[in-house]
Amino acid sequence: MRYYANFKLNKTSKEVVDYFEKFNQYNINQQVCFFVSPALIDGAVKSTEHPIGTQNIASQKWGAFTGETSIEQAIDLGCKSVLIGHSERRHIFNESDALIAEKVKLAKEYEVEIVLCVGETLLEREQKFDVIKRQLTSALDNLSSYSNIIIAYEPVWAIGTGVVAQNADIDEMANYINSVLKQNYNTTLPILYGGSVKTTNVKELKTINSISGFLVGGASLEPDEFYQIIIS
Ligand code: 13P
Repeated sequence: MRYYANFKLNKTSKEVVDYFEKFNQYNINQQVCFFVSPALIDGAVKSTEHPIGTQNIASQKWGAFTGETSIEQAIDLGCKSVLIGHSERRHIFNESDALIAEKVKLAKEYEVEIVLCVGETLLEREQKFDVIKRQLTSALDNLSSYSNIIIAYEPVWAIGTGVVAQNADIDEMANYINSVLKQNYNTTLPILYGGSVKTTNVKELKTINSISGFLVGGASLEPDEFYQIIIS
């Protein structure tokens, strides 16, 4: 299975070094990747052999875009993976489907893994299949290849709330996502689940055959806890 940590806006550079000092001692034979904020990429890359990803990229390569981080800057620092379309970017920073599509298209020009996040809000729950289809197709329609893309299904109402989606619902959505991918692009992609994944529920979540791993927020911030999630 694959385990992706999303540190969000947490940790200083010293805390990242301390984190990996501990985490690197664990013998892990699974795929693990850490999404950190741009300011921490350099320190994280130098502190661990595990791949480091960035939590966001600008939709433009270069130019007058104050405050942004470009994909080339992230790659230059050693980033191997890019998180695009996280619900916090969609809902707090008002990123549109069109902007997310631009970011995905740009990232595809580079040899990085793309983790594309999709997920419905509580209000959208009744139309969740339509919402997910729209988020997927808007981001993927203009691509000529789908290699190196992973889909993270993160229902917004499950993120940071302690409310985890039911196994049957996650399984149903993962199968739906792959049916949309098959129908529209003749492909299937690995699917991660994210939203309140914890040591206490991950064993149960691992019984879902249609998902390939997890995107973990809060419970990835302590090395022990994240390690327990991986080995559970
Ligand atoms: P939590 O695990 O804290 O719910 O966050 C999930 C998430 O947003 C990962 O990207």
